Amino acid sequence: MSPDVPTEAWSGVHRGPLREGEWVRLTDSKGRRHNFELVAGKRFFSNKGHLEHDELIGRDEGFTVTSSAGGEYLVFRPLLSEYAVSMPRGAAVVYPKDSAQIVALADIFPGADVVEAGVGSGALTCSLLRAVGPHGRVSSYERREEFADVARRNVTQFFGGDHPAWALTLGDLAEELPRSGERADRVILDMLAPWECLDAVADALRPGGIVCAYVATTTQLSRFVETVRVQGGFTEPAAWESLVRDWHVEGLAVRPGHSMIGHTAFLVTARRMAAGERPPVKRRRPAPGAYGPDYAGPRPPDLPPQVAEETPGG
Ligand SMILES: C[S@@+](CC[C@H](N)C(=O)[O-])C[C@H]1O[C@@H](n2cnc3c(N)ncnc32)[C@H](O)[C@@H]1O
Repeated sequence: MSPDVPTEAWSGVHRGPLREGEWVRLTDSKGRRHNFELVAGKRFFSNKGHLEHDELIGRDEGFTVTSSAGGEYLVFRPLLSEYAVSMPRGAAVVYPKDSAQIVALADIFPGADVVEAGVGSGALTCSLLRAVGPHGRVSSYERREEFADVARRNVTQFFGGDHPAWALTLGDLAEELPRSGERADRVILDMLAPWECLDAVADALRPGGIVCAYVATTTQLSRFVETVRVQGGFTEPAAWESLVRDWHVEGLAVRPGHSMIGHTAFLVTARRMAAGERPPVKRRRPAPGAYGPDYAGPRPPDLPPQVAEETPGG
């Protein structure tokens, strides 16, 4: 039998036979999923009868089991991406396609000092903790106690205990981050008004560090990007979204799936300049009308004066 993943890796993953106290994920023939904790002597009920937990405990994951009324279920331990979308929710979670982008493109590395707000249900927190490992630090801020409680339960459940790299602070990031005096390599913002926290983030980020915001709407995207430009201590922000389309592959019927995970949110990243440094002045003129009379948001400081008069398409 291969040894279990070392507990000191804090991966949230186990190898070997299923054990009491672990979560399993059952998938039926229609793709419906059921996640539950294994408890000796307990029964799992569905519209296809029941199953004894004892039938699952002690077996190697990756098997099919049949319930009392003939329902077939595939049994595995849930992956982090599956856990994140099925765990109890307080606030909306960052979807796995976006957590993956955040970890890769906000360059979260083992040993990193990461600040995150708000913690919501703790889905992104799990990915960040996985990426920084036990020698890094994820410092999460959440201003609503009921969400912080949900996140604490979810994160502790996933890692099977109190992750040594995690600290959770109750309060508003804009107030608590300066008070904490902590410095960060990366700051991830998933909240309604991330621009309100940008000065606190700029003070906490080390030179070369990354701020990454996850925002649901175009108005938030615009406000955040323009505030980063006005703040001045960051590089030109990069903004994007990712769309993931499943494919149906069956004989000659190879085509895009009928449904897809379309819009979830936009991502923005920018890098922190060294103290007192500014990025080069932009040489390109803004698009006509970009900052015309109808634009009411923050204005980049280096706009040519006539740009304010231009109308879209003019
Ligand atoms: C969409 S949820 C975050 C979801 C989380 N990233 C996840 O994957 O589970 C947004 C959270 O930000 C919190 N929040 C909003 N503004 C905040 C601020 N300035 N400081 C701390 N938390 C804030 C809200 O209370 C809410 O719980």
